[in-house]
Amino acid sequence: MPAIVVVGMQFGDESKGAVVDFLAEWADLVVRYNGGSNAGHTVVAEGSKYKFHLVPSGAARGRRCVIGAGVAFDPEVFMEEIGALRDKGKGVDVLVSLKATLLLPYHKELDASLAGESLGTTRRGIGPAYQDKMARVTGLRVKDLFSGDFAKKLRKVLELKEAELRRANVLRGNLEDYYNELLRRAEVWREFLRPFIGEDHVEVNEAIARGKLVIFEGAQGTMLDVDHGTYPYVTSSSTVAGGACTGVGVSPLAIDAVLGVCKAYTSRVGAGPFPTELFGSEAEYLRERGGEYGTTTGRPRRVGWLDIPMLRYSSLVNGVGYLAIRKLDVLSGMKRIKVAVAYEIDGEEHRIAPPYAEEMSRAEPVYVELEGWRELDWRSIVREGWESLPEEMRAYVEFLERELNVRTVMVGLGPEREMTLVAPALSELLGSLAGVRI
Ligand code: IMP
Repeated sequence: MPAIVVVGMQFGDESKGAVVDFLAEWADLVVRYNGGSNAGHTVVAEGSKYKFHLVPSGAARGRRCVIGAGVAFDPEVFMEEIGALRDKGKGVDVLVSLKATLLLPYHKELDASLAGESLGTTRRGIGPAYQDKMARVTGLRVKDLFSGDFAKKLRKVLELKEAELRRANVLRGNLEDYYNELLRRAEVWREFLRPFIGEDHVEVNEAIARGKLVIFEGAQGTMLDVDHGTYPYVTSSSTVAGGACTGVGVSPLAIDAVLGVCKAYTSRVGAGPFPTELFGSEAEYLRERGGEYGTTTGRPRRVGWLDIPMLRYSSLVNGVGYLAIRKLDVLSGMKRIKVAVAYEIDGEEHRIAPPYAEEMSRAEPVYVELEGWRELDWRSIVREGWESLPEEMRAYVEFLERELNVRTVMVGLGPEREMTLVAPALSELLGSLAGVRI
């Protein structure tokens, strides 16, 4: 029953999409369990670039995919993504959970008008949609679209939300017109969605029971988790590995391994503390070399050195046993590379990041410096295999493994699928779980 959760260990944008796509070669099912179209999972393969927001990254290989109950599901984005996949000639095999929260146009407008400014959200409606889900009386699910009394339910929700929608200037005219327009759009979503809907808990549990390899694809990163991240500068879902269980309906006992993904440095989009943040020319160097601009919003990302206290915290709350390090090539050409190994906060040393925005914003990183490496022909290094990694690069990887007590299964040396360098521990992981030989 091999099930692996792939989880971001930083602030999102760790290139989880590329890792999931790589593993999808052997996977039977790829499952999204949290977030919504705020995610931007990029896969570069076979001459195409895919930017997935809602659909799991396994779709680039035509794998069976599931969008779980924990997702805030925007039908308009889904229709666009499926359309784009079909335009690329890709077969589409996706199940959408009947339990997923419906994210409606007014959620996006509310997000833009309210939370957008102070938290720097993606304006994809995530906070307002989860707010309605938790409120229950104003929440709608995919299943409601297919119930005989959807029109009645929508009317009730709009009546309850009317004052809020007017205050935020989302609703300007007549409520009846707004309602009729939404009903008209809902008709289009319903017809499009009909072939996709189903029961995520049945599909995923059956696959696991039959010994299929199931990959859970986390969206955003641990430090953006609504409970465990740098609240309130977080997203509104459970981004941690445990979210896979609650977001789909599988037992924690069904998860065999947690694969943490981190970039070789750190980045963050939006507001919130960032202890190892860089500014000026060093930041510019990393941002440009790493192409650090948001996939979903195009915003320049804040960048900084690798932060081990944060990764230790992530390792702890997710139970990370295996690591994928992305964008290691981006650090090439630096003479010395700094890595934070502890924080000093109010004169006290912390080896594990305290996950509180106030404390983290006062954290002074304690750095060590590691040897840099020069630019090399990474393509030939990937061809020649793990043993051909330059010594300094290997030292960087081994330093991380020691500090976090994890095994590295792969490193990314470029955005394309074929630029992933496989480490020996990947065969051990997939071999022991799924009998896969690499
Ligand atoms: P929201 O998820 O759109 O509500 O945004 C809340 C915070 O999470 C903001 O700082 C966003 O920039 C950040 N965020 C949301 N999704 C992602 C992501 O996929 N990658 C990186 N940051 C994200």
